[in-house]
Amino acid sequence: MCGIVGIVGTETVTARLIDGLKRLEYRGYDSAGVAVLNGSGLKRARAKGKIVALIDELSDNPIDGPAGIAHTRWATHGEPNIANAHPHFAGKVGVVHNGIIENYQDIRAELSHRTFTSETDTEVIAHLMDEALEAGQSSKDAFAATLKKLRGAYALALMVDDGQNEIYAARAGSPLAIGIGDGEMYLGSDALALAQLSRELIYLEEGDWAVLSPKGFQVYDQNDKAVKRDVTVITAGMGASEKGDYDHYMLKEIYEQPITVNATLKNYLAERDQFGDIAQKLDFNSVDRLVLTACGTACYAAEVAKYWFEQYAGLAVDVDIASEFRYRHPVLSPNSQFIAVSQSGETADTLAALRYCKDAGLKTAALVNVMTSTMAREADMAMPLNAGPEIGVASTKAFTSQLTALASLALLAAVQRGKLSGEDAEKQMQNLGALSLLVSTALEQDTHIKKLAKDLSVAKSAFFLGRGAMVPIAFEGALKLKEISYIHAEGYAAGELKHGPIALIEKDTPVIVVAPHDRLFEKTVSNMQEVAARGARIFLFTDSEGHKEAGHMAFASVAMPAADPFIAPIIQSIGMQLLAYHTAVTLGTDVDQPRNLAKSVTVE
Ligand code: M6R
Repeated sequence: MCGIVGIVGTETVTARLIDGLKRLEYRGYDSAGVAVLNGSGLKRARAKGKIVALIDELSDNPIDGPAGIAHTRWATHGEPNIANAHPHFAGKVGVVHNGIIENYQDIRAELSHRTFTSETDTEVIAHLMDEALEAGQSSKDAFAATLKKLRGAYALALMVDDGQNEIYAARAGSPLAIGIGDGEMYLGSDALALAQLSRELIYLEEGDWAVLSPKGFQVYDQNDKAVKRDVTVITAGMGASEKGDYDHYMLKEIYEQPITVNATLKNYLAERDQFGDIAQKLDFNSVDRLVLTACGTACYAAEVAKYWFEQYAGLAVDVDIASEFRYRHPVLSPNSQFIAVSQSGETADTLAALRYCKDAGLKTAALVNVMTSTMAREADMAMPLNAGPEIGVASTKAFTSQLTALASLALLAAVQRGKLSGEDAEKQMQNLGALSLLVSTALEQDTHIKKLAKDLSVAKSAFFLGRGAMVPIAFEGALKLKEISYIHAEGYAAGELKHGPIALIEKDTPVIVVAPHDRLFEKTVSNMQEVAARGARIFLFTDSEGHKEAGHMAFASVAMPAADPFIAPIIQSIGMQLLAYHTAVTLGTDVDQPRNLAKSVTVE
């Protein structure tokens, strides 16, 4: 989604703003722009497409100054072109914005005497503020008055050509942080944007707004009362991430998983097979239901967890897509534990679900990778993934960390609810302890999977099938393939295929079957034969036993390492990631920043 960077100081800012924008590229965008405030007023440069286009524009028409705001835009209102790119100007005001101003059409109608130059919702902010200035208000009062007229979600940064060297900032729904410097102040959508500028951050709270100058800043709450907010010191590793020798961040993140699953595990399982402090804060015995809400890949992790909690802990679980959750009037019992699952901790729908459940009196927890995120701050309890920054838009290591954490919590629930003997619990803890090694072994299939990806890359459409906990892994496999290779793919419960979708199977339709040799193996193989009989090209992802038994029935078979059924979903997901990655590379797509996608979806 849109990214914001701002700097106000005494030195020139353009090069550093561009550096900040580069750090926000991973969020996904389709145009970019920068504005500076200097002795001759507000100046801007904007470009459609990638930041290199903005750099080209700046080298033809350089601008610089001691204060500036910059933006990567992920189009919502109006196509990605230069006119719609931020910053938007009106009179003395320039603004960049992340979010959606829901009442922009009403405001536009009210300001119909003004000339609008874009189709965006954002431009109304600049006009509203400029109107207030023309009416004689000070910049500060005009800003406060402007915010009161906006409805919707926003993080915004704004400058006024009023002879002051200041940046105005506000947050309602979309994240924004102030970075503290020495003789300079910064603004950024996240810690990554500010990684080279400041390690001392202040995360604005809902409804906060602020004025930044080279000498300092002041935060105001939604009632315009001056307030103090806590300073978060960003530790090394939270902010920066480099690609190293890998061709893509996604590949690097896939290969980090033997380390990241262990980093996750450390939070939940302590030495000598005891549960860790974080896990112990949850009491699954006192609740009668678990409500898991998430989006995209995180939701598939929650779907896998449903199998775990139900099977091992006998705890009823509802899994909901966050965008549907609050609008379908869910019947919630206050005696439920709610867990929001999110890599970023900022996904607008998941955050809304968290707030909804908090208001309904549920105990809330957020399982997040970004511990400074809004969800982590707003939930009763924040649980870390510790996977390190995930830059590739396609989630990989965060997914396996979500699974690892949720598996640990399911075991905890099983023990707390007396559903698993000490011996069985210890056995499953040992399985989790062996996860890192098995993930490493799974990665050894890389070369083999790369060859299969060549065959898959010619397809227009593909199916992914699984049974039991492999159903969400099939969904995840299909999502990974769609988002980075742009090949149409659908995940199905293998038993569901003959209720309709099998009509789509024809000669050479690729069907990826995820079937480790477990109690459902034979049933899945029967479904596999049904599609093979209709000409489908089967890619079987199994283990050595499954490979021996059914490999010969498939066009290709991949023997992932044998694993206890408890952790097999995590192992099989590695195969899905590698298949999607190599298919996308074969097709030459933009693997780390696939078209139309944003890393963190901060609008509804
Ligand atoms: O940051 P979150 O985990 O809340 O993000 C949820 C989804 O937007 C995310 O998983 C998305 O589906 C990924 N692009 C999948 O690879």
